[in-house]
Parts: sequence; C-alpha cells; structure tokens
Amino acid sequence: MTFSTTYEPPFAFARRMSTLDHLTRGRVGWNIVTSYLPNAARNFGLDDQIPHDRRYQLADEYLHVLYKLWEGSWDDDAVVLDRASGAATEPSKVRYVNHVGPAHRVAGPHLVHPSPQRTPVLFQATGSPAGSAFAGRHAEVLFTGGRTTEQFQAVKRSVLDAAVAQGRGQDAVRFVVQAGVIVGRTQEEAEDKWRTYQQHASLDGILAHQGLPVDLTAFPRDLTVAQALARSGTSPDAVRLPLDRTVGEVLEQIRTGRQERFFVVGTPRVVADEIERWLDVDGIDGINLRQYHSFGTARDFAELVVPELRRRGRLPEAGAEPGTLRERVFGHPRLPAEHVGARYRGGAHLEAPYEPVPEAVPAGV
Ligand SMILES: Cc1cc2nc3c(=O)[nH]c(=O)nc-3n(C[C@H](O)[C@H](O)[C@H](O)COP(=O)(O)O)c2cc1C
Repeated sequence: MTFSTTYEPPFAFARRMSTLDHLTRGRVGWNIVTSYLPNAARNFGLDDQIPHDRRYQLADEYLHVLYKLWEGSWDDDAVVLDRASGAATEPSKVRYVNHVGPAHRVAGPHLVHPSPQRTPVLFQATGSPAGSAFAGRHAEVLFTGGRTTEQFQAVKRSVLDAAVAQGRGQDAVRFVVQAGVIVGRTQEEAEDKWRTYQQHASLDGILAHQGLPVDLTAFPRDLTVAQALARSGTSPDAVRLPLDRTVGEVLEQIRTGRQERFFVVGTPRVVADEIERWLDVDGIDGINLRQYHSFGTARDFAELVVPELRRRGRLPEAGAEPGTLRERVFGHPRLPAEHVGARYRGGAHLEAPYEPVPEAVPAGV
C-alpha cells in the first residue's frame, strides 16, 4: 500500500504496519511516497507544499524512526508467553528508542511485538535525483517508468550505484516498470479493446490527474515541449516530459496511455513473449499494470496472461510459494544486515544522535 511520509507522524504508522504484518503473516509492502500534490499540503494544515528535495530529507528521518521501532525496540526473543510465570514478555528485551531529531521526537517502545517481516518490504516510486538517492539508501523495490530501454536502464544504474555507495549489494533493489498490457483471446479482440479504451479516454481527465505545473493544451501543437515550458516560464526540471517532442506528440501519448517500450496489445502468447523480452533484454524484475479498465485490466491479466506465464515457468503455481512477501521477492524474511534499517537491531545505535542527510543531492548521484 501507499503511504506518505510528509503529513502524519511515524509512531502510529509503525504500529499500524506491524499489526498488518501480523494479520497478513508477513505479506505487507509499503510504497513510500512524499506526496506530490500541492493540495495535499493544504489538507494537512500547511499553506503550501514543502519543497521536493526537502521532503526526501524529512522522509529519511521518518524512516529512521520507523527502523528504530520496527527493528530496534524489541529483541527476537522478547516474547516469552510463559503461562506458568504469567510473563508475556521479557522486559529487559523491550526498550525505549528515545529518538530526538529535527522533525520528530519518539520515545517508544514500539507497541506491537515483532511481526514476521518487522520492516515491511520497502517500495518506492521515483525518477528524480533526490528520490533516487533516497532509494539507494532505503528502497528494496523501485517502481520506475521508462519510455525506452535506455531510460529505464539509466534509472536502474543510478539507483544501484547509490545503493552500492551505501554498502548495499548489487542486487539489493528490484525494479518494476509500469507496463501497458492489453490482451484478448485473439489479436483482433485485443486490438478492438485497445480502440475502445482510446475512445473513452479523456485527455482533460488524465491531465488533471497528473497535476502538471503547466497546461500543455494552451500551446500550439507544433511547439516543442521545451519551447512551451520556456514560454510559460516553467523550469524543465519541474516536469518529467520529453523536451524535444512536440506538444501535440506528447499530448497524444498522454491521451492514449501508449508507452513506447513497455506496451503490448495481443494474444496471451504475444503478450507473454513481450514480457519475457522486458525481463531478459531490458532487465526488469516485474511489472506494475497500467489500469485501462477497472477491473477489466487486472481480470484479463489474471485469466489470460497468468496461465501462459505459469506454463513458461515465469510465475509460480498458485500456493507454490508460501512465506512472507520479502521471502518471495528476495528469499529472506528480514531486511539484510547491510541495509541501513538493520543497524538498530538489538538496540544498537539507538543512543547515537540522528544525523540528517543533506538536502541537496551531491552531483552525479
Ligand atoms: C503505484 C504508485 C502509487 C503512487 N501513489 C502515490 C500517492 O498515493 N501519492 C503520491 O504523492 N504519489 C504517488 N505516486 C507517485 C510518486 O510519488 C511519483 O512517482 C513521484 O513522482 C515520485 O517522486 P520523484 O520522482 O519526484 O522523486 C505513486 C506512484 C506509483 C508508481
């Protein structure tokens, strides 16, 4: 699930996630976002949004508070449940975290006994330098875009470099791209669906949802995006759009939802061939389905594509892989020892003052 680090303090969130991890037997993943919509700030008592890179700086402290609670507050053998003595826990193995930082003060202890994963699998969606630096420190699974193979691989490289610079392994992060998959029992049926979806798409609706800082529809279609941004006085850094394309081309791409690379329309076999190429040639680890139709997109995928991927050994059979979400993705249930969150295990480092990360991202990260 997605939850923002910007507006609600970490203590109650830590408790909720631990409860969910118990309830789901360790199947919880958290998509860390910092909230990009200005309106959100005005719903939480602020006049305006906190600047983008500052939000990631704040998110770093937020994560450290959570790690202290999830990883450091209870030892593995703190729960004794001894009927004879009436002891539920061994108090010497449960501790206060006493976090004091610029944005948060949290004494602890964590209110929930250790759940199967402790820290939920950490997902993140980013394409920005500050977000990628944050991902190198924290993320285990990254949602990323990628109009082209090269674009996807550049993001993957920069995040893996940032992870390795933090002492994490070369395969510490898995990469999930958003993919458009339109499938039918025949090629004709699939293309027919694609035409129908396009007929119902609303460009205004999609633009409103994206919340771009500039209204592209106000410019002549033959201007490049770079020219339109210059005319409106918008910094090219404020949008992630192909600057060399024309406004018309970009609006058409936004309207149709058609990606250049991670997009396929066809029969289960055509779709599975393409997904195998994304996995083997582009080097992705998974896909996040773009939803064209609620809930037709997911149903079509489950009914038509999943059996084909299972036949090819690309997906396990139902029920063949029990265990926690992290075990399914990485083969181990807990954060690895070299992840920053693991440093608080056993109560280590809880006394050390929290050092904020720099707000500005060093060049080249
Ligand atoms: C599956 C998914 C769910 C998302 N949900 C939210 C959300 O609820 N709130 C939000 O602010 N951003 C959400 N995002 C968008 C990310 O915050 C967005 O990609 C943002 O651009 C990431 O920050 P950055 O690229 O500026 O670093 C979501 C992204 C994905 C892939």
